[in-house]
Amino acid sequence: MDERAMTAAVLTVSDRAFAGEAEDRSGPLLTDLVRAAGFRVVAATIVPDERAEIGDRLRTWADRDRVALICTTGGTGLAPRDVTPEATRDVLEREVPGIAEAMRTASLSATPLAMLSRAVAGVRGETLIVNLPGSPKAVRECFAVVAPVLAHAVELIAGAASQHRTA
Ligand code: MTE
Repeated sequence: MDERAMTAAVLTVSDRAFAGEAEDRSGPLLTDLVRAAGFRVVAATIVPDERAEIGDRLRTWADRDRVALICTTGGTGLAPRDVTPEATRDVLEREVPGIAEAMRTASLSATPLAMLSRAVAGVRGETLIVNLPGSPKAVRECFAVVAPVLAHAVELIAGAASQHRTA
């Protein structure tokens, strides 16, 4: 297995956590969950709810560091500053709608508020990017839905990438 096979990065998107006005509990929780799913977390950071900054960070982790998986938390809702889905779409090459659909569908049995998350997921280069909502409760519930498919998903992406390179 190559070096980057099961690498991951976690991005917390939150104005308040970035400013130090609120403790980031979702990022560390998501890091623990990603690790427990078998990934090696090589980076984790906080950015404010700024479309360009979110996009820059996603591009750097995907293009320069070539991490296999990026999970974001926060900024997926309806507040004026919630721009994580737009920033993610800016960088995605292919969307994987089923991942976000599955999180929303499964979460509806926990709370009707699940339908208010505009989270998206998809592929950039050799990296799978998945948005999760911001609260620790939502992170826990949504990650449990996608965890079983992540290793296979990154394996497929890596396979496609290496076929592409040798073609
Ligand atoms: N999904 C699950 N599983 N559990 C939750 O508690 N909260 C919802 C929703 N998705 C929630 C959830 C709420 S209240 C909001 S506003 C949206 O996610 C968006 O959250 P975000 O803006 O923090 O990303």
